[in-house]
Amino acid sequence: MEVSAILLFVLFGLNHVKRGSTVQLHLYTTCPIPNTIGQEPDTVIGRSELQCVMLCSQSEHCLGVRVCGETGMVKCTMRNTSSPAQCLQPDRTPTHCRLVNRVSPCEKGGTPNGHGCLCPLPFAGKYCQRYMRDCSEGYDNGNEGAPEGMYLIQPMTSPAPFPVVCLFTWGGITKAVWRFVAGTSWAATTWSQAKQGIGYNRSAVPDYTRVFVGLDHLHQLLNQSSYQNVIQSSYGSDWDNMKAFYTDFHVGPEPSGYELSYGTFYSYDEFPALNGLKGQGPMLFAAPGGPDPYGCVAGGAPTGWYGGSHCAGHSVFADPPTWPSPDKGVQVVRMIQFSLVRKGPYIEN
Ligand SMILES: *[C@@H]1O[C@H](CO)[C@@H](O)[C@H](O)[C@H]1NC(C)=O
Ligand SMILES: *[C@@H]1O[C@H](CO)[C@@H](O)[C@H](O)[C@H]1NC(C)=O
Ligand SMILES: *[C@@H]1O[C@H](CO)[C@@H](O)[C@H](O)[C@H]1NC(C)=O
Repeated sequence: MEVSAILLFVLFGLNHVKRGSTVQLHLYTTCPIPNTIGQEPDTVIGRSELQCVMLCSQSEHCLGVRVCGETGMVKCTMRNTSSPAQCLQPDRTPTHCRLVNRVSPCEKGGTPNGHGCLCPLPFAGKYCQRYMRDCSEGYDNGNEGAPEGMYLIQPMTSPAPFPVVCLFTWGGITKAVWRFVAGTSWAATTWSQAKQGIGYNRSAVPDYTRVFVGLDHLHQLLNQSSYQNVIQSSYGSDWDNMKAFYTDFHVGPEPSGYELSYGTFYSYDEFPALNGLKGQGPMLFAAPGGPDPYGCVAGGAPTGWYGGSHCAGHSVFADPPTWPSPDKGVQVVRMIQFSLVRKGPYIEN
């Protein structure tokens, strides 16, 4: 019973060291403490003191860690208080237990702020111990007005951080699509390219005006809260704008066919738009080399979401994309973007 509980903690602990983690050792101090036995609610088994510290640095609640044992197998007990008093016992024989406290609670160059830290971009969390979950978390963390550009985010269920375009106005906007159409050809984007995303070649200079975040990332991002999507498109020689608003915008996981859904559609008179995302049935993703549930791609339609075998609709992947205007009819667009604005708290799934 106890052994299996410890094993669970081991799995839990190791899973929570995210990829790309580094540990800033100057933020910690080590002191010997007597070996004590007691209630240990947050204990994991690790390989080394360094690993204990790394686990501590990943946790919202850890201000210090008690490490017992020698390298190879140690027990790490996360503590939600740092108790420097324990360090004032220099003449006690150091046992195989010691206490590692955070000197400063803030990782990554963050600055203490009340009960937590103000974190530099792209970090967030109480102690800046992780990447921001979306651009709005960066905004909320004191970065209003920071320059627009590509930043790493890591939604709650994403195994690794990935770049998106962030705008730090209006509560923080995460752009999942930003396409200046001239010079792009997206209509034949394959299933695997759409899953991976467009425009994220790290070895090339990023051109963040021609990016699509990728289907899995889009699902992970939208799955952690309720988002409004503002699909903005520009058309004509004056780059006139249409703005289509969608509440509760969702993209399901791969087994659902990356099903696109939303609560309600609306638009305003200043930038009038019609709903370009309508289907008779579920809106499912279709691309060459992947599912094509309504046969639209086989019939020559561009990659995109389709809601029935009529294959009607307006795909951001079309060459060029189009969008319907209430007073001017369907317009060929020169720029189209998905601006995601978080409208609720983060939800653990
Ligand atoms: C620390 O953890 C203990 C036990 O889980 C809890 O009772 C206490 O309220 C926590 N303190 C803080 C400051 O979070
Ligand atoms: C990424 O960019 C580099 C440099 O421009 C190029 O050589 C490489 O083929 C690109 N890779 C992909 C997958 O597009
Ligand atoms: C996340 O995705 C799962 C599976 O599609 C779904 O059941 C759940 O409601 C979603 N949660 C949110 C907050 O979107």
